[in-house]
This record gives sequence, structure tokens and C-alpha cells, in this order.
Amino acid sequence: MNQEMKIPQHIAIIMDGNGRWAKQRGKDRSEGHFAGMMALRATVKAAAEIGVKYLTVYAFSTENWGRPQAEVDALMELVCTGVEMNTPELCQEGVRVEIIGDRSRFSQKVNDALDRITGKTAQGERMTLALALNYSSRSEITHAMQQLAQKVANGELQPQDIDEQAISQSLYTASMPDPDLIIRTSGECRLSNFMMWQASYSEFYFTDVLWPDFGAEALEEAIKAYNERDRRYGLVK
Ligand code: FPP
Repeated sequence: MNQEMKIPQHIAIIMDGNGRWAKQRGKDRSEGHFAGMMALRATVKAAAEIGVKYLTVYAFSTENWGRPQAEVDALMELVCTGVEMNTPELCQEGVRVEIIGDRSRFSQKVNDALDRITGKTAQGERMTLALALNYSSRSEITHAMQQLAQKVANGELQPQDIDEQAISQSLYTASMPDPDLIIRTSGECRLSNFMMWQASYSEFYFTDVLWPDFGAEALEEAIKAYNERDRRYGLVK
């Protein structure tokens, strides 16, 4: 990658197209998701090498529970397999894993796997990988509002102290900067309930590449496109 290139501090990705990738090859959707996990592995490695500090990926939305039970089961199994397959390499690469989303609906087995990956990678300082699991932006904002309302009810907070910072600090992403770049694969051009608060000044990049085909090269293309953008944050240059 060109040395002059501006590297986004935080990249967030809507990984889409696993099902279509599998269909094109006459495979089961679950094989598409497995290939998606391999693409995620390659993308994490590339992002850390490029110098990205935060990578957030939309791995399972609150709406995904409505998929056929067999597919939901396969995705839950993939979370566990993904933890086993990738934890040693993530530790080696200095990648710290965080989970954003509501973990209360996951089985004990899935939660144990998530505890393992977050626990074992906790010392990683090179990059943070945030896995959005049972995540949606509306449920995140609802949860944040409930927390703030509870503080007001307890007398710990005055309504006029609920400002943008207080809201940001109540989201699952409290410890992260807002994403500079949001990537969506597979040709779809929508946000699908992902980081709606945090995306206020993000640059968007849409690519036709299906997620299982994404990796170092596609990531570099996205960063090149980001470098051609003029971020003004509502100001005049
Ligand atoms: C969207 O493709 C993808 C998902 C809903 C799942 C994303 C999961 C992975 C990439 C697997 C690795 C990650 C973890 C942590 C388990 P789609 O099924 O909507 O594809 P389609 O639109 O072509 O049907």
C-alpha cells in the first residue's frame, strides 16, 4: 500500500453476499458462511497490517433470528468454530476482540466461546476487532435510552445533561471512535440497521464483490476510494 495513503482509523463492514456466493457454486448457504469466515480472517490480517486500529463487522443482526432455524444454528456453530480456529492467530497478531450487541439471547455454549475469545485476546494492542452479534442500531439506541432514563430516575443524571456525548457513551461502541469508512459488499446500498448514530460522518463504500471473495486486495481498493473523498464535516474547505 502506498505510503502516502491516509488509513482510516476505524473501518466498519457489512459483510453481505455469502448466500449468493454459495448459490452460484451450487453449495449450501452454510458453506457460504464458512467461506465468509475465511474472508473475515484474511481481512482482519490485512487491516492490522495496513495499520487500521478498529475493525467492526456486522456478523449477526437482531433480524437474522428470523432466518430458517437450520441457518441460524449453522451461524451459531460457526461462531464457536470461528473462535476455536482463530483465537491463536488473533493473539499472535495483537488483535483484541470485543463483542457489540445483546448477548443475552445466545446459548451458554456461544457465550462461553465469546468469553474465551475476548478473554484470550484482551491484551492485543495492534487492532480492535468488534464483532457485532445480535446487534442492530435501533436496539442499541433503545438500550442506551433505557440506561440513561434509569440514571435520571435514580437521580444520578439531570435530563439536560443528556447530550450527544452522554448518548455516545451509552452505546455498545462507547470505547471506539466513530467509523471513518463503512463498507458494504455484494452490491446492496443500504445501512440495514447498522451503526446509524455512529455513521453520521462516515464515508460509504459499496462494492459488488461478494463477501467470501473479499480480502486484502478488496480492502486496499476501498481504502484507495476513501482517499479520494473530501471529508468536510459540514464545514467549508
Ligand atoms: C450476509 O450474507 C452474512 C451474514 C448474515 C453472516 C455473516 C457471517 C460471516 C461472514 C461469518 C463469519 C463471522 C462470524 C463471527 C460467525 P447473506 O447470508 O445475507 O448473503 P445473501 O444476501 O447473498 O443471501
